[in-house]
Amino acid sequence: MSERILVTSALPYANGPLHIGHIAGAYLPADTFVRYKRLDGTDVIYVGGTDEYGTAIEIKAIKDGITPRELVDFYYEDMKKDFKNLGISFDNFSRTSLKVHHETSQDFFLKLVENGHIVKKTVTQAYCPKCSMFLADRYVEGTCPECKALDQKGNQCEECGKILEPMELIDPRCITCSTHPEVKETFQWFIRLKDFQDELEDWMKSNTHWRPNVVNFCLNWIKQGLQERAITRDLKWGIPVPLEEGKDKVLYVWFEAVIGYVSSSKEWAQKQGKPDAWKDYWLDGKIIHFIGKDNIPFHAMMWPAFLLGYGNYEGKNWKLPYDVPANEYLNIGGRKTSTSRNWAIWLDDFLKDFPPDYLRYYLTSIAPESKDTDFFWEEFQKRINDELNDIIGNFIHRSMTFSFNNFEGKIPQMDSALVDADDREAINAMHEIGEKVGTLINNFKMKDALKEIISFAKMCNRYFDKKEPWKLVKNDKAKAENAIYISLELSKTLSIILNPFLPFSTEKILNQLGITSFSWGDSGEFLLVQRKKLSKPEPVFFKVSDEEIKHQIQKLDSPEPMKKTIVNKEVKLVSFEDFQKLDIRTGKIISVEDHPKADKLYVIKIDVGEERTIVAGIKGHYDKTELIGKNIVAICNLEPAKIRGIESQAMILAADDGKLVSLLEADRDTKIGSKVR
Ligand code: MF3
Ligand code: ZN
Repeated sequence: MSERILVTSALPYANGPLHIGHIAGAYLPADTFVRYKRLDGTDVIYVGGTDEYGTAIEIKAIKDGITPRELVDFYYEDMKKDFKNLGISFDNFSRTSLKVHHETSQDFFLKLVENGHIVKKTVTQAYCPKCSMFLADRYVEGTCPECKALDQKGNQCEECGKILEPMELIDPRCITCSTHPEVKETFQWFIRLKDFQDELEDWMKSNTHWRPNVVNFCLNWIKQGLQERAITRDLKWGIPVPLEEGKDKVLYVWFEAVIGYVSSSKEWAQKQGKPDAWKDYWLDGKIIHFIGKDNIPFHAMMWPAFLLGYGNYEGKNWKLPYDVPANEYLNIGGRKTSTSRNWAIWLDDFLKDFPPDYLRYYLTSIAPESKDTDFFWEEFQKRINDELNDIIGNFIHRSMTFSFNNFEGKIPQMDSALVDADDREAINAMHEIGEKVGTLINNFKMKDALKEIISFAKMCNRYFDKKEPWKLVKNDKAKAENAIYISLELSKTLSIILNPFLPFSTEKILNQLGITSFSWGDSGEFLLVQRKKLSKPEPVFFKVSDEEIKHQIQKLDSPEPMKKTIVNKEVKLVSFEDFQKLDIRTGKIISVEDHPKADKLYVIKIDVGEERTIVAGIKGHYDKTELIGKNIVAICNLEPAKIRGIESQAMILAADDGKLVSLLEADRDTKIGSKVR
C-alpha cells in the first residue's frame, strides 16, 4: 500500500489578520511540502482552519467593541482569502466553531473521562472582585516567574516560552481593571498527563528523524515529570463541557483546538462524499503537524497524550504524529514581530504590492528552520532581482525567446547523433535534480532545496553561455537546435521542481511551453513536443525597484496606528487637534419634561455653567425623577438641531451596548461646567 499522509498547519486564532511571520512558520513550508507530495503521486491531504475560541478571541473582541462571533466570522473569511491569494492549498479550511468540531472535541473529552484520564478537582483560581469573574489565562498579566519578562500573559511567557498558570505571575493583575486578583475556589477537569509519562518518553526517544530542538524540548519537559493540567475553563465563549455539572464551563482552547485537525479531516471527508475517508489517515497514515516553536508543547506532548488516552477507535489506535516540524521565529528588520506595536508585515498589504511568488521565494530562502531569521526589505529586493530574475528568470526567458525568434516560433528538434559532452552533462543534471530536491523537501529542508535549485539554474546559464547559440545559429544550425532544445527542457525541469515553491509563475512558464499536466518525475524526462508552436514568450519575473523598497521601508517605520485591529466597521481615526475642538463639559440636570410631540423623548434642561435645553432619547431607560440632580457629561458645541420642533443645544453622553443605555456621570465633587479632556 502506498504512503498516506495528512498534513496540518497550526490553526491560526481568528483574531487578527495574517502576517508574514505566520506564513514563514506554519503555512508556507507545509504548502511547499504538500504540493511536492501531490506531484510525486502521494496520497496526501492538507487540512487547516481557524481557531475561534479561548481568551485570545474574547479579549480581542472586547478591545474592538464587537462580539466574539462577529470577530471570528470576519477573520475566518479574511484569512481564507489571504491564504488563497498566497496559494496556500488547503484541501479543507475549517473552523473550530462548527458543529462537527464541537462533537468531536466533546467525544474526546468523554472518552478520556471514561478511560480515567480526566479527573474533576477543586482548585483555587484567579478571581477579580471588581469584575466579578474568574480570570482565565490571558485575563491576567504580570511578570514571568522564570525569565522576569514584564507584562506577560497568564498562559505562556512570550519571551522564554514557559507555560504558566495565571497566579504564578509575579504582581498579577486583571487586564480589564488592573486589580490584584483574589484566589477563589472553583472546580475544573484535569488531564492526568502522568498516565502517559513512560509511553511518551519512549515514543519521543524513538523520534530520531525529528528536528533535535523539538525532541530536546519535549524530553526536557518529560524529565521534569508531567503534571496534571486543567482542560476546562470558566468562560462563556467556547465548547460546553458535555457533562451536567460542567454546563457553565467550556473546554480549554488548547484541549479542543488540536482536535480541530481531526474535525477538519472529517469535514473534508464529508465534502468528498466519503464520510469515512478521514480514518484512512488518522488510523493508518502519517500525520505531520507544521507549527511555530511556541506550539511545540501542545502538539508534541499534550496532543499525543490525548490520542493515547482516547484508546482505540473502532478497534484501531490513533496514529501519533509522524513528525512535528516546528519552525523558529521570523523577525523583521532585526526586531521581533509585534502586532500590538504594529511591527509586522501584513500579508494582504504585501500582496497588494508584489506577486505571491515573490513572498514565497524570499520567505523560503530565509526560512527559520533551525534558528530565528530576519526579513529585510533590502535583502528581499536583492534576492528577487539577483536570483529570481537574473538567474532563474533570465535563463528561462532567453531560452524561450531564442527559440521563438530563431526557429519559426517553434520548439526545435533534437538530433541525438549530435549530442556532445556538454549536452550530456546538462542532460544528466536534469535527470538527477528532481531526486535531490525531493529528498530535501522530504526532510523539510526547504531552504536547502531552494539553494540546490539555484545552483542547478546557474549550471543551466553556464551551459547556455558555453554553447553560444547566437553563434551556432549562423554556422551550425543543427547544433543550435540541440542547444536550445536542451535549454527548453532544462527550463521545464526548473519550472517543475520550482512548482511547489512558486506555483503561480511556474504554471505560466509551463503553459508557455505547452505543458499543462506534469508530475515530479517528469522533471527528469524529455517532455517537450518537438516542432510544436510556442506561444510568444512573456517575461514572468520583474525586478523590484529602489523606489518600491524605499516606500515599503517607510511604510514599516511609519507609526500609522492599528488600522489592523478594526473589523466590520471602518473606524475613522481622529487627530488630537480634532478631538480638542470638542467642548465637553460636566453639568447637572435641572429639569425633565416629556416632549410634547414624541413618546420616546425628554426635554431636559441642564446647567453646564449656563443653561441649555436638550432633547434626549432616554425615556425608556430613566424615569424623570431619577434624572433630576444627576451630574452629567455633555458636548456643548454641537450644531443645534431641531428635534420635533424643539431646539436641542447640547448632547449628553451615555454608554449604549445595544440594549442598555446608561448615562455617564461625573464624580460628585466635580464642579459644574468643568472642561472634560
Ligand atoms: N491558535 C494557536 C496559535 O495561534 C495555534 C493553535 S494550533 C491548534 O498559537 F491546532 F492547536 F489549533
Ligand atoms: Zn478586573
